[in-house]
Amino acid sequence: MWETRITKMLGMKYPIIQGAFGGFGTVDFAVAVSEAGGLGMISAVTMRTPERLRQELRRAKSMTDKPFAVNLTLMGDPHLEQMREVIIEEGGVPVVETAAARADKHGRRLQEAGIKWIHKVATVRHAVAAERQGADAVVIVGLEGAGFKSTLQIPTMVTIPWAVRLLKVPVIAAGGIADARGFMAALAMGAEAVYMGTAFMATRECPISERHKLSMAQADPTEPKYRERCLAPPKSEELAKVMAERGSLPEDQWLLRLERVMLKDSPEVPDFSSEDEVEEEILRSLPGSLAVGVIDKVPTVKELIDEIIGGAEAIRRRWSLL
Ligand SMILES: Cc1cc2nc3c(=O)[nH]c(=O)nc-3n(C[C@H](O)[C@H](O)[C@H](O)COP(=O)(O)O)c2cc1C
Repeated sequence: MWETRITKMLGMKYPIIQGAFGGFGTVDFAVAVSEAGGLGMISAVTMRTPERLRQELRRAKSMTDKPFAVNLTLMGDPHLEQMREVIIEEGGVPVVETAAARADKHGRRLQEAGIKWIHKVATVRHAVAAERQGADAVVIVGLEGAGFKSTLQIPTMVTIPWAVRLLKVPVIAAGGIADARGFMAALAMGAEAVYMGTAFMATRECPISERHKLSMAQADPTEPKYRERCLAPPKSEELAKVMAERGSLPEDQWLLRLERVMLKDSPEVPDFSSEDEVEEEILRSLPGSLAVGVIDKVPTVKELIDEIIGGAEAIRRRWSLL
């Protein structure tokens, strides 16, 4: 009943994909999503080293026979190419998602190895470029969403139908989606799957503190930390400064600086001495998205997916009576 080109391409039961989380996109979390019928997403950067990624991919394959994906974010990962090669060598990963910067070099290499390549972008222009570069599908994150921001990003409601008109490859909708209504709206706009970050962060299996999850369930999306991170433009002097630095340092390091300006965060990356500090820092700069407006509890991953699908089926029944 929920078959789309994306479920057929990637083999999961429902057109629901877990967002990538640098820092806590772990195997156990991703496997829980895949086992519940979605597509779990392991974040390569979370594994820190290619060897650890190899061991964790083996562990993932021993835990589930359902498909799962791996995210390669093109900034802040010193082992990116080795991570990509480990995914290819290990096999059993049907799809890799790239994000943050142009990734066709990685995409082509993955496709040659028989792996589908999905690229995540924040603007329709970049989605068109990714299709031209050969991506099998694109994830487009609207302004409501968390993560890497663009000054050209506009809300999900316009971005998705606009992209669907222009692209032939399947479009995956992200940005502010967290419940059955958002899921149905995304499919009605022409998306062939939804991609959720914040909604999956507020689940029991997400390995962040219970305190943070609870605060998301109780949050008001008009709080500055959500509103400003998602909607406010960056300070123009800071943006001009970081743009002028392009080319003077390695691209992935420059992208990290750009991200911090776009997220309205301090441009200095502190030194961390413990895992707790890393978590604090990630959650301070990326607390989640405006999706908190439709999150009011901390369910298990399976409860979240079942509730979305059950709610979506109820909406379909109501519509068929109209
Ligand atoms: C704490 C946090 C960490 C994230 N880390 C990454 C990352 O490392 N790579 C990436 O591609 N996206 C990352 N994202 C973005 C999500 O994968 C996803 O695109 C975004 O959350 C979608 O919007 P939503 O939260 O409204 O669903 C992160 C998001 C959050 C909230």
